[in-house]
Amino acid sequence: MQILTTAAALQAHTENWRRAGQRIGLVPTMGALHEGHLQLVRAAAAECDAVVASVFVNPTQFNNPDDFRLYPRLPDADAALLAPAGCTALFLPSVAEMYPHPAIVQFDFGPLERVMEGEHRPGHFNGVATVVSKLFHLSRPHRAYFGQKDFQQVAIVRQLVSDLAFDLELVAFPTVREADGLAMSSRNRRLSAEARALAPRLYQSLQAAAELVRAGQAAPAAVQAAARAQLAAVPGLELEYIAVADADTLQPLTEWHSGRAVVLCLAAHLGGVRLIDNVVIGWFGEEVE
Ligand code: PAJ
Repeated sequence: MQILTTAAALQAHTENWRRAGQRIGLVPTMGALHEGHLQLVRAAAAECDAVVASVFVNPTQFNNPDDFRLYPRLPDADAALLAPAGCTALFLPSVAEMYPHPAIVQFDFGPLERVMEGEHRPGHFNGVATVVSKLFHLSRPHRAYFGQKDFQQVAIVRQLVSDLAFDLELVAFPTVREADGLAMSSRNRRLSAEARALAPRLYQSLQAAAELVRAGQAAPAAVQAAARAQLAAVPGLELEYIAVADADTLQPLTEWHSGRAVVLCLAAHLGGVRLIDNVVIGWFGEEVE
């Protein structure tokens, strides 16, 4: 596995692969890699000839300076995990390399970002779209891999690809979970033992709410209230939001719409760590993940 630290090196390598007829897979990450990331890399390795994984803690997508400062950075461990997962090149740029000057162009995704993460983390998706666009331009992948764990991010990137005509296929990969249901996340490393023991309650509350949706008796507001009540019983948990939304438009639902998938998304703070999770429910009640 090659380690590339400059934009020029990434461009040169991917350009050569392209000319040689190789299909390129891109897996953008912020590092502190876990099994969720590695499954994306393995999927890319199975479907593409060359796989680029980027590891870059992107300052422009953090609205909380402490979150940026405390975000785990483990480049050596990441490199050791990526090679056996089938990664061809690790792109590990510095902030100066990715942002030789501050970006002036701003992204506005309209209603898609006025909810959930976008509503609670102002500027977050502008930063995501900026860095993802740069990575797309630099590596020109045939396929780009993203996790459903960040459900709204996938919707935003899908819009970005469509609106700006990026010539690539977006792959949305199901959420990888710990045995007890907790969605894998780089931030899980920061959980205390007590918080880690309580963290599976997030997914449990989503599953219970999904059951209510499938049963078809409760209105969206009642489903939301039930999940809220369950989470209120978790000691020390501060719920930031729980959304019951249309899975395509991400807009909150006041009633169910025939034929449309539903997504339940939440963000909560547990012992000072911000966690997100979601569950998608297809129209016929099956979990889409
Ligand atoms: P990061 O949080 O490191 O996640 C990198 C990719 O891994 C994202 O597509 C994310 O959805 C996926 N991922 C994380 N946890 C996962 C899990 N448990 N199961 C499946 N996939 C999972 O998301 C980002 O970084 C950044 O916003 C980025 C896209 C790299 C732009 O900076």
